[in-house]
Amino acid sequence: MNSNPLPSPPARNPATRPALTDALRAAVAEKAAAARDFLIAAAAEFGEALTFANSLGAEDVALTDILLAARLPIDIFLLDTGRLPAETHALLAELEARYHIRLQFFFPEAAAVENYVRAHGINAFYDSAELRRACCRVRKLEPLQRALAGKKAWITGLRAAQSPTRDGLARRETDANTGLVKLNPLADWSEAETWAYIRLHDVPFNALHERFYPSIGCAPCTRAISLGEDLRAGRWWWEAPEGKECGLHVKP
Ligand code: ADX
Ligand code: SF4
Repeated sequence: MNSNPLPSPPARNPATRPALTDALRAAVAEKAAAARDFLIAAAAEFGEALTFANSLGAEDVALTDILLAARLPIDIFLLDTGRLPAETHALLAELEARYHIRLQFFFPEAAAVENYVRAHGINAFYDSAELRRACCRVRKLEPLQRALAGKKAWITGLRAAQSPTRDGLARRETDANTGLVKLNPLADWSEAETWAYIRLHDVPFNALHERFYPSIGCAPCTRAISLGEDLRAGRWWWEAPEGKECGLHVKP
């Protein structure tokens, strides 16, 4: 039975369907092999002290497929902020069924959410940048600390081309936030390469991507973008572009 209760709208966003030319296929095959080898080396280096932060975005589902195809025993975790879109949960169920896996969930501390909402209101993140960051601290950063406890390195789906705040992103860096090694196997991938991988390997993806949501976070803080807009323009759209990070990824 298809347990996904959400209707599937017709595909629209052309960025999710790049023309699969020979050149693009060759580039994707080469980069996917490089990402796989990078992950194999990371698994050998860090063992159980390695984990993968999976937001279920396009990059993360591609990485999930690469990692599971290589049968690497790397933990995968999701920070469920309590405000994720229904489409993200629908995708989660689809991925778990497709790959026979169970992601590790980290939820925010109930008392911290209650205190924040009682003090400031249910959607207080719209009121000021300070309250927005405070919400991200409670719903994402504190759970991230728990997800990374005892780990030496974490894997992300970050790409340099996603945003000016990610310019110059390296595949391996020391995370200014946590002090851990941060591994970004897709750092040099383009949006077209990411989508070509997804299409060529028939990887399940978030239905919102086809509705012009290239970057997906919490439902109230994410909206669709217009053609030609920055890929992260729909995230915290009411804030200035240079401040648009939730604190999971900060530059030193
Ligand atoms: S964010 O900092 O603005 O939220 P973005 O959505 O671009 O980040 O995702 C970048 C990477 O951060 C993802 O590829 C993933 O590795 C990690 N990440 C972001 N959100 C989550 C989440 N809710 N759970 C797990 N990892 C996440
Ligand atoms: Fe809160 Fe929005 Fe940050 Fe999600 S993205 S944790 S709802 S401020």
